Formats: sequence, structure tokens, C-alpha cells
Amino acid sequence: MSITPVPRIGVIVVAAGSGTRLGAGGPKALVGIDDHTILRHSLTRVLAGPPAQIVVVAPPGREGDVLSDALAASGERRDLLSIVTGGATRQASVAAGLAALWADIEVVLVHDAARALTPPEVFERVVAALDAGAAGVVPVLPVIDTLKRVAGDEIVAAVDRSELSAAQTPQGFRRDVLDAAYAGAATDFTDDAALVATAGHAVSAVPGHPLAFKITTAADLDRARHLVGDAPIPATPSHLERRPPLPRVGVGTDVHGFGGEGVLWLAGLEWPGEPALSGHSDGDAVAHAIVDALLAAAGLGDIGTHFGTDHPEYAGAHADVFLAHTLGILGAAGWRVGNVSVQVQANRPRFAARRSEAEQALSAALGGAPVSVSATTTDGLGFTGRGEGVAAFAVALVERA
Ligand code: CTP
Ligand code: MG
Repeated sequence: MSITPVPRIGVIVVAAGSGTRLGAGGPKALVGIDDHTILRHSLTRVLAGPPAQIVVVAPPGREGDVLSDALAASGERRDLLSIVTGGATRQASVAAGLAALWADIEVVLVHDAARALTPPEVFERVVAALDAGAAGVVPVLPVIDTLKRVAGDEIVAAVDRSELSAAQTPQGFRRDVLDAAYAGAATDFTDDAALVATAGHAVSAVPGHPLAFKITTAADLDRARHLVGDAPIPATPSHLERRPPLPRVGVGTDVHGFGGEGVLWLAGLEWPGEPALSGHSDGDAVAHAIVDALLAAAGLGDIGTHFGTDHPEYAGAHADVFLAHTLGILGAAGWRVGNVSVQVQANRPRFAARRSEAEQALSAALGGAPVSVSATTTDGLGFTGRGEGVAAFAVALVERA
């Protein structure tokens, strides 16, 4: 197995916008073109460009969906990817991305996720111009339409279009130049080139590409849908070639204290007469430890990524809901569950009589994957020994579906 050197190029893919003009009822980057989202199409093409660290800037609250897409696009090369949460403006989102770049990154490309079909060759051209000494580079296309200056409904002047170009992304910059321009930015700019130019740096142009158009309106999305069949996804470059698919393990733990309302739910079972655990959901520490172990094994974040307390639908939810949703997240990213082993540390409830019932309930919620449940007390030691709560420790094995 070869070790890839740390890249010197960073690509910030801004995908945090709300897509107001598209009006699809959700963040634009997560809207489907075919059976893949705008973001996934963008990332596939970014990944086929020069080897780079890729920072995806996600809409707040949608980090989990962005991570799933990013992982599906990157295969085993998830080590190149970081996900950060975006801001209220594009500029704030780029700043969030900049803060996540590795120390070794020397040049930065900022790319709109909304330019979903941008071919890898545009990335190559921008990097080549930076390597040739430019501080800032913008891919541009000539303006085709005849342009007029208009005041109200009156044409007041013709504009010489030969002087004008339409700016696209990825826009590339020396990292020190972009960092300094962002640190000193006092107002909001429409693109990074404007910010860098205002900071006093020359920005040069390279040819853009018609396929690098930005999906802004429903008509643009239609255009992308027609084009996508004719704009083949580039072949996987050698730096993304897959290692042999090994199974992967993950570990998860969870703790809940007694003191909840109603009856105890643990390991997917209701325990009449036992004191309830407290928590945002039903406090089922066994289920939550399993969720964390599964997500960790698949490299899909953790329970907070997908089931945050800002999701009211999980208030009071039981193990079956958590495990079925987790299974769906893994399935969408191409993983299936091998097996799960979970150990409960608690004075009560006593598992001996209901162990196989718990195993069956948990296994059924995971589509039939074997789940082993063991339980132990802790000899009166610690919070579990004092009967204050329950701890659970899970290990999961997943493999490529
Ligand atoms: N963007 C971002 N964070 C924001 C606003 C925009 O990361 N706060 C990103 C968008 O996700 C998009 C790119 O910047 O990839 C270009 O922005 P635009 O096309 O304007 O997208 P939206 O802002 O989502 O769309 P709209 O302006 O129609 O709401
Ligand atoms: Mg916008």
C-alpha cells in the first residue's frame, strides 16, 4: 500500500447556500441532478482534478447528508475530506473553509458546488497558472450576448462586450494572499477574486468552460439534467484508486442516568417496573452505543452528526428508529453491517432472562445482522456500581455492500 504525500493544494467547495432562486425546498447542493446530487457531481469532478485536500462547506444542520455524499464520491480516500459548517453569506462560508485547511496547503481553489459539471481540466488550468507565478486566477468565458446599459426601461448605452468576461469557479489563489485578504475583508464581495483584487493583488484569467455554468434557477437545473448524460464522469485517477476492500470496525459508548419519565427502555426492549433512563430520546444507551459504533466503522461521523437534539423527530424515539435510520445511512454510503457486539454495565435491569429477546430485537432493527448482548455489574464501583445509571460499549463490523 502506497502512502500519498500530503497535498499542497486545498479545494474549498462551498455548498452551504440555501438555493432561494432554485426554489427546490431545500439546500441547493443536496438537490438531485440524476440519481446523484449537485454536490456529488461537483465532488466527483473535483476529485478527478489535481490531488488536493477537499473541504466541503455544508449547510448548517445538513452536515450528515453532505458527509454521506462526500464519502460516496471519494470512496476510500476519505482522508482527503473535511466537512465544515457554512455561514450566512458565501464569504462567511469560504472563511469557514479556509480555517479548516491543513498547514501544508500552499494554494487554495475556491469552488461553487453549484457549478456541478465543471470538468477537471479547469482545475488543472487554474493550478498551472498559480504554479507559473500568479497570485490569483479566475476561469472566465467570453460574453456572448450583446450588452446594454439600462436605466429603468431605457437603454442608455451599448457596452463593448469584448472588454468583458463572465467569471466562473474554481478561483485559485496563493494561500497567504487569500488568508490575508480574508483577514482584512471589511465588506461582503460577490467572489473571492474581487476580495483579493481589493486587497491589491493582480488576478489573472484562464479559459473557463461552458460546463462550469452555475446552477442557479430551475432552467439551469433542467440544462444540467440534459447535459449530465453527455458529460461523462471522469475515470477515477490513480491517486483515488481503491485499496482492497477490507471490513472495518468501529467502537461506540454511551451513558445515561436514571431519572427519566415513564418506563425503562434498554436494548430495544421495554422493561416494566424498572426505573427509566433520562435523555433526549428514550435514553437507550445500548442502542446509542451501537449507532456510534456503526457510524464510526463506516467513517460516517457519530450520533450527533445525524441525530442532533435539533431533530425533534427523535425525541422519545426507540432503538428501532435509531438503528433503522443508521442502517439506511450506511446503505446509502455503500456499507452493510457484519455484526455487532455490545456490553451493558449496570446493576439493573437483569439481562440474563431477556438476553436473547434483546439480541433479536436489535438484530431485527439492523436488518438481521447478528447482535450479541452481554451484561455485567461493576462490583459496586463507579456510577454504574452505585446504581446511578447505565453504560454501554459496542463494537461493530461493517463491510462494503
Ligand atoms: N454558498 C455558501 N454559503 C452561503 C451562500 C452560498 O456556501 N451562505 C455557496 C452556494 O452553496 C453555492 C455558491 O456559494 O455553491 C454560489 O452561491 P449561489 O449560487 O448564490 O447559491 P445559493 O446562495 O444557495 O442560491 P441563492 O442565492 O439562489 O439562494
Ligand atoms: Mg446566493
